[in-house]
Amino acid sequence: MLDTPHPTPAAPCLDQQKLATALSGLHFIGGRYVPARSGKSFAVVNPATGEEVARAAEGDAQDVDAAVQDAARAQKEWAKMPARKRGALVHQCAALLKEHAEELARLIALETGKALRTESRVEAGVVADVFEFFGGLGGELKGESVPFAPNVLSVTVREPLGVVGAIIPWNVPMLLMALKVAPALVAGNTVVVKSAEEAPLAVLRICELMNRVLPPGCFNMLSGMGPECGAPLVEHKLVKKVTFTGSVETGKIVAKAAAEKIVPVTLELGGKSPMIVFADCDFAKTVQGALTSMRFTRQGQSCTAASRIYVERPVFDQFVEEMRKAVDAMVMGDPLDEKTDIGTIISPGQFEKVQAFIEEGKKTAGAVAHECSALPKDQALKKGLFLRPVIFTGLTRDSRLVQEEIFGPVTVIQPFDDPEAVLAEANDSEYGLAASLWTNNLKVGLDLAHRLEAGLVQINQNLVVQANLSYGGVKSSGLGKEASLEAMLEHFTHKKTIMVNMG
Ligand code: NAI
Ligand code: MG
Repeated sequence: MLDTPHPTPAAPCLDQQKLATALSGLHFIGGRYVPARSGKSFAVVNPATGEEVARAAEGDAQDVDAAVQDAARAQKEWAKMPARKRGALVHQCAALLKEHAEELARLIALETGKALRTESRVEAGVVADVFEFFGGLGGELKGESVPFAPNVLSVTVREPLGVVGAIIPWNVPMLLMALKVAPALVAGNTVVVKSAEEAPLAVLRICELMNRVLPPGCFNMLSGMGPECGAPLVEHKLVKKVTFTGSVETGKIVAKAAAEKIVPVTLELGGKSPMIVFADCDFAKTVQGALTSMRFTRQGQSCTAASRIYVERPVFDQFVEEMRKAVDAMVMGDPLDEKTDIGTIISPGQFEKVQAFIEEGKKTAGAVAHECSALPKDQALKKGLFLRPVIFTGLTRDSRLVQEEIFGPVTVIQPFDDPEAVLAEANDSEYGLAASLWTNNLKVGLDLAHRLEAGLVQINQNLVVQANLSYGGVKSSGLGKEASLEAMLEHFTHKKTIMVNMG
């Protein structure tokens, strides 16, 4: 055990490397930073330079048990606190997150390679917003009265589930953590999070900030490998709810483990989100919309990325050309440089996976690969995982690049002639997370919006997670919703019925 429970500085620290070093080798359990019980750790690497910036504690079943036991003890008291008071504390966390937003942005840029100006700062801001939103919802944890019989008082109450086990990925780790932790806490649960191997630092820093406000044990963070640390968390008998964001493959493993214990599970999995562009759209706005929808600034590492773009034939060539020019103008470089639009891919494994898709696309007969932007020339970045964004044309619906989630800076643009045909193509997917339609004919737009198989359909805009709007997919994209009041009530509480017979 460490002598100092908090090796991190109290004031915001804009030296991301100093903070990374201070956070090295630690979990956060029961209100303290503690090393892994096994003493093991693994490297956290800056993907822009290939350099090790910190070690992360390599958690196993022993650490999981310690964290879950602490969370279970803390939950008994936490659940007794009036819900509005719990909400007020979560709201106070938002204030601290705002104060530390720049620090968190720099730390997340260091460990993930996401550009500071276009991505990392945005994430840090939204995290505070999510805490603020859920912090205000304590008073909504209320039930109903049911007119059963004149001499019977019949009511429902909302009760917390207990300890929540949350497993998060690396692409937007702070935000995806916040979407689980903030509602779970307000609803009276305590939480143990297992961070992603590639991005354990920023979420670990947040623990100490939250611990200034919340009772110890309410919020715990473990780092480690999926099978060795994630799986025992999902399987732990005191974990009464599992919430997961990541790949479909791992989502199935997690859902099976939850089924073994009969506990509820929420899954936010991948996507292959279609963007449908009609010739009558507001053209310049739609090209901009395609850039943001495809999340090129995050190297396309987004579950809602518009990785299939269907464009009505009369404007197809012009659209491809304008998009190519716009992506070309984006600056790829040091994630911490204010001039940079696009940073790096997260890890060598993801880099190879995305490159394999690009190679396969290039070899496909009839396909054209428009490679955009330029690799950085800076010598310090020569080992960085930079990859030029690629816009493919000439691929058809049976291509693996049209069917599978690439999770990289690769989009496929295809022409269409008929709304019914494009609807059929858009729905011809294993996934159903998000979709967007771009047209000034709202009659057509609204009709297709109702018939697209997706959890979120937007016309003439493409925003991502917005606190207050339910977010979550259908088909293989997942189970359950996040980000809203309904999501908090449905997924982090159960409804108990109480009847009193006064006859
Ligand atoms: P993954 O789904 O394997 O990892 C997500 C989280 O699950 C990590 O914290 C990981 O440690 C944990 N995990 C892995 N195996 C586990 C197990 N057996 N039990 C419990 N937890 C486990 O995703 P990965 O390998 O990082 O990326 C692979 C692909 O997944 C990507 O190429 C992308 O297509 C997709 N993905 C989708 C995300 C989304 O936002 N929906 C986020 C990250 C990846
Ligand atoms: Mg994996």
